[in-house]
Amino acid sequence: MTLSSQELRQKFLDFFRSKGHAIIPSASLIPDNDPSVLFNTAGMQPLVPYLLGEPHPLGRRLANVQKCLRTDDIDKVGDTVHLTFFEMLGNWSLGDYFQEEAIAWSWEFLTDKQWLGLPADHLAASVFAGDADAPFDRRSYELWQQMGLPEKRLAKLGQENNWWGLASHVGPCGPDTEIFYWTGPEPVPDIFEPANPFWVEIWNNVFMAYNEQPDGTFIPLKQRNVDTGLGLERVLAVLNHEPDIYVSDLFQPAIHYLEKISGRLYSSETRTFRIIADHMRASAFLLADEKAVTPSNKDQGYVLRRLIRRAVRLVYNWSIPPADILSGVIEQIIATMGEAYPELVRQHDFIIAEVKKEIIKFNYTLGRGLKEFERLVGHHHFISGTDAFMLYQSYGFPWEMTKELAQERGLAVDEAGFQEEMKKHQELSRTAAAGKFKGGLADNSLATTRLHTAAHLLLQALRQVLGDGVYQRGSNITPERLRFDFSYPQKLTPEEIKQVEDIVNEQIALDLPVTCEEMSLEEARQTGAMGIFDAKYGAKVKVYTIGGDQPFSREICGGPHVEHTKELGHFRIIKEESSSAGVRRIKAILED
Ligand code: SER
Repeated sequence: MTLSSQELRQKFLDFFRSKGHAIIPSASLIPDNDPSVLFNTAGMQPLVPYLLGEPHPLGRRLANVQKCLRTDDIDKVGDTVHLTFFEMLGNWSLGDYFQEEAIAWSWEFLTDKQWLGLPADHLAASVFAGDADAPFDRRSYELWQQMGLPEKRLAKLGQENNWWGLASHVGPCGPDTEIFYWTGPEPVPDIFEPANPFWVEIWNNVFMAYNEQPDGTFIPLKQRNVDTGLGLERVLAVLNHEPDIYVSDLFQPAIHYLEKISGRLYSSETRTFRIIADHMRASAFLLADEKAVTPSNKDQGYVLRRLIRRAVRLVYNWSIPPADILSGVIEQIIATMGEAYPELVRQHDFIIAEVKKEIIKFNYTLGRGLKEFERLVGHHHFISGTDAFMLYQSYGFPWEMTKELAQERGLAVDEAGFQEEMKKHQELSRTAAAGKFKGGLADNSLATTRLHTAAHLLLQALRQVLGDGVYQRGSNITPERLRFDFSYPQKLTPEEIKQVEDIVNEQIALDLPVTCEEMSLEEARQTGAMGIFDAKYGAKVKVYTIGGDQPFSREICGGPHVEHTKELGHFRIIKEESSSAGVRRIKAILED
């Protein structure tokens, strides 16, 4: 009998609930307070403060299914086991139980008939061998023997295999013990050889007793924690005796759909189908995330762009519009996973609309870009950094796509040269941005300065009329007009527009003083100033306040501004329209 993904999630959570664990929801795919990483790559990541000792509101035993995304293996996606987005089942002890219970429960969950019922003779484990930083994990070794694993099925490995910590090498970490399952032909070999690919790692138990310092030393944590993780998709494959993780209920509907719409077979287009299914699934989850990621040229947005564009390239020759194929795959994914992740269903329209927008945008330049690429291939023996940058800049080819295309043709690409070009370009745009945001407006004319102050009044007026969910999303000021983007899901009514105008004009009539103070970012946050706190401001920021004791507005801003609001004249909104999904745009002018 095959086990479904939902049954596996349920069994895992039920098991740990029966062992006194509170079930916590999955955190966002985007880490909360950690700008050093783009995505949550393990279930423990959102729990770092609690692993370091902060009390968790739900207690000391937790379990969940966490949405994770890893990009380091993105080039391996297409084989039987690698994914970008995946679900990680995990249980934690925050200074509560330690090795004894963790190992005994792992064993019970895996082997007991009531739970997964895997044959014990198909299991093996590796433990930390010890080195200068920490001793051999003798306790785990003995505990595995007590469970019934013979020495031949136990391996002692070094830090590179049996030590787990964050990629940043700072924070909670410790020796781990990894559990392997034999997926090869019978009989199972007596001796466990971790390098044999038929031994698949299915569960990692980390005994977090150390805190790695930025200087590379390890100090004992004040509490001893357990952090475990099992990749849902891998375990499912193992349980169902199916080495290909795409042959599970998680992916089959998407794969069948691809077969149907393209008339091609999974058996012949295996790698392409897998990449498309994986990339579209990750894209759907990024867009549906509570911190909605949309395609862009930086950070998480860039990863999303890469995922979508790579999929577009793969179906480009299929004689069916890529937007139809790929949005159809996403429909299947939402249908498959929407029950476990209701955000997919809630954000259905947004996901489809954003994906289609990105596909159509890229489809438009892809054909010309591919021609350009062919031209380059015809002329050169390698792709220069300048060429790769040209493909990126003019045709929207993510760097990785150019690299992939070149590899397919057996050509080298000058990566250092590309990075060099990219840096030059970023420096140019940084200087331009600095002109606008740090040193002040690029154009210091009085007309522009007045509109700039009006923008601050406008933001506050919008928040008063439409609520605190309104944030500035961008602005563009010329001496003639102000363009202002802000987050808000629907069109403003004429009454709301009138109210906003009236509030701004009232504040102008009050002739409020506009003052500027310099302070640290933290101080600015404490004054309640509006601003983007995670942007890379300097050590000191300028805070502009409009109004006296109980100011009307306070914002982090480079300036310059007028000194009194009466200098603005009369404020009028000339247009209100949609800018992108969830973002409205106002155009406004000042009249004398
Ligand atoms: N953090 C460990 C891992 O990712 C166990 O959950 O493998």
